[in-house]
Amino acid sequence: MSEEKSDEEVKRKRVAWGITGSGDRLTETVETMIKVKEEYAGDVEIRVYLSKAGDQVVKYYRLSDVLKKEFGKVWVEVNSNSPFLAGQLQSGRFEFLLIAPATSNTVAKIATGMADSLLSNSAIMALKAFVPVYIMPSDYKEGIVVTKLPDGRDLKLRIRKEDVDHVKKLMQTDGVFVIEKPEDIPSVFEKHFRSHSARFSRASMDVY
Ligand SMILES: Cc1cc2nc3c(=O)[nH]c(=O)nc-3n(C[C@H](O)[C@H](O)[C@H](O)COP(=O)(O)O)c2cc1C
Repeated sequence: MSEEKSDEEVKRKRVAWGITGSGDRLTETVETMIKVKEEYAGDVEIRVYLSKAGDQVVKYYRLSDVLKKEFGKVWVEVNSNSPFLAGQLQSGRFEFLLIAPATSNTVAKIATGMADSLLSNSAIMALKAFVPVYIMPSDYKEGIVVTKLPDGRDLKLRIRKEDVDHVKKLMQTDGVFVIEKPEDIPSVFEKHFRSHSARFSRASMDVY
């Protein structure tokens, strides 16, 4: 059965946003993504994909309803190919894949080429099809971090060298762009969607 799409839907570009089971900077990332969604409302549709652990952690942080309210349907991992995000990325249905926040687990998988979970598989398949992948790792820099527990208490954690080594490997991976913090996310959207319209309007101005 063919899906009827409004002109609005046809026109809008799609971005796939993957959320893994990382509590670290999860709330800040969701807040940033809501602002980005509002800013690009007419031009970009953001689709949310949760790893199984992501689904669990989003519930701990009481963000499930927020995600559904702000982004509509939320897809949850069944296995590496279900939902079939990997296929949709390869067939060009999305401008890029953003994984934020990305656990040390998902980062390790992507860095070492393991494609056995929804978001690691989607990232690796996207890269095979030249679709850019942006990753915001929870374990970015070696040292001690203080993260927020779901009940608001602080938790002191050590960022391990082994996990940071995987991040460094990702930084050298063709097609992967590592971002450090939620505040860096808007510039990714700007690069993909604003620079194009800026170029377009500059070109139209040149005509006159
Ligand atoms: C409340 C909660 C918070 C967590 N926060 C983190 C985190 O900040 N970073 C991390 O690497 N793992 C974190 N984990 C552990 C991951 O969820 C776990 O390693 C999981 O297997 C990751 O699976 P995924 O990468 O497929 O999402 C957290 C787990 C829970 C229950």
